[in-house]
Amino acid sequence: MKANPGGNLDPRQVYGRDALIEMLWDRLDSQSILINAERRIGKTQVLRKMLLEPRPPWKPVFRDLEKIHSAQEFAELVYDDVQQFLGKAEKARNFVRRLLEENETDYVSLKARTWKQLLTSAVEDLMKARQQQRLVFFWDEVPYMLESIRKNDGPKLAAEVLDTVRSLRIEQSAFRVIFTGSIGLHHVLNRLSAAGIPTSAKNDMFQVTVTPLAPIDAERLAGDLLQGEGILTDVRPDIVSTLAEEVDYFPYYIHHVVAGLRIEQLSATEANIRDYVTRQLVDASDPWQLAHYRTRLTAYYPDNNDADKAAVILDVLALLGNPSDSLSVDEILSSVQARGAHVKDRNELLQLLRAMDADHYLTRDLDGRYHFRFPLIRRWWRLDRGL
Ligand SMILES: Nc1ncnc2c1ncn2[C@@H]1O[C@H](COP(=O)(O)OP(=O)(O)OP(=O)(O)O)[C@@H](O)[C@H]1O
Ligand SMILES: [Mg+2]
Repeated sequence: MKANPGGNLDPRQVYGRDALIEMLWDRLDSQSILINAERRIGKTQVLRKMLLEPRPPWKPVFRDLEKIHSAQEFAELVYDDVQQFLGKAEKARNFVRRLLEENETDYVSLKARTWKQLLTSAVEDLMKARQQQRLVFFWDEVPYMLESIRKNDGPKLAAEVLDTVRSLRIEQSAFRVIFTGSIGLHHVLNRLSAAGIPTSAKNDMFQVTVTPLAPIDAERLAGDLLQGEGILTDVRPDIVSTLAEEVDYFPYYIHHVVAGLRIEQLSATEANIRDYVTRQLVDASDPWQLAHYRTRLTAYYPDNNDADKAAVILDVLALLGNPSDSLSVDEILSSVQARGAHVKDRNELLQLLRAMDADHYLTRDLDGRYHFRFPLIRRWWRLDRGL
């Protein structure tokens, strides 16, 4: 198998996700699902494998919603997908046009109402249909779409879209959807809540986090890629385990390292692998786009200098001797204050720590002590901040 970092994979090339996928199909019998995970962990490949190898009687329809900027476009998309599934020729656009023509007098309020009617009637049509297959929507990058709608049309409309989909899930007990995306849905919900529009839009969904690969799968992937690229003829356990461990078992970076070794015509030695990874972390052109972990702090935590405080929390944890070394909340509080961060009190700190945990910067051990979630990101943070 050839290295393909960032590309769509053939389902057979998606390693280590079989148990997760079986669990997702099982859950879909009773519930819709919210997949939440760090960027670049392989969420989209999980959905694509399910799309291409569906479990009967499911018929998934995959949509990347990143390019959808209005409730109207979203409703039309869903309507189109349902019509296509039901095999009807009539398309959403015709439906909308007809409605608009029939009600020319009140164009503005009609247009505002139409998307909801369209979405609801699409799902109602779907639920009434007697088909052997069952449609399930795979909606990738849902938070992006909601953010676009929020920015273009205001928080009220973004909340309405979420609430309409939620009502449909509740009223139509057979309607199923999987939401995912590279930013957490909780960010959108927090912004809506801050605008005075709290919504319980995800409470009825089964929430699951996609993790990096299990070591055994990451090592198998590393071995198959190294062989596929002609870098290694016989798989050596020490080499594949070094490669997998150096990149925290993220399949994306495993593809990258193998592609890089191939391009630079390097042999697969432990030293070359370690050196290659380190060079990616310090390369000014940031080939793995790790600066995202720094720049998104301001987007994620826009209030009260929270982004700066979060950066100091990361500094404090990055400075510990080992990736697994952790600190208690009180220890973090005194350390960040000692480094000049104006964290008011324990409560303020706790709120930030919870948010940073939800955003996969940090995690807690069983004693409630915090450490970096991913050693690779910790390593990059130390280098990036000159710690
Ligand atoms: N299970 C896997 N086995 C092998 N390679 C994988 C696997 N999952 C992901 N990859 C590799 O990682 C890349 C990124 O995967 P994917 O696009 O699914 O991530 P994502 O979590 O959806 O990212 P984003 O947060 O940017 O949307 C893929 O193009 C592929 O190279
Ligand atoms: Mg994706």
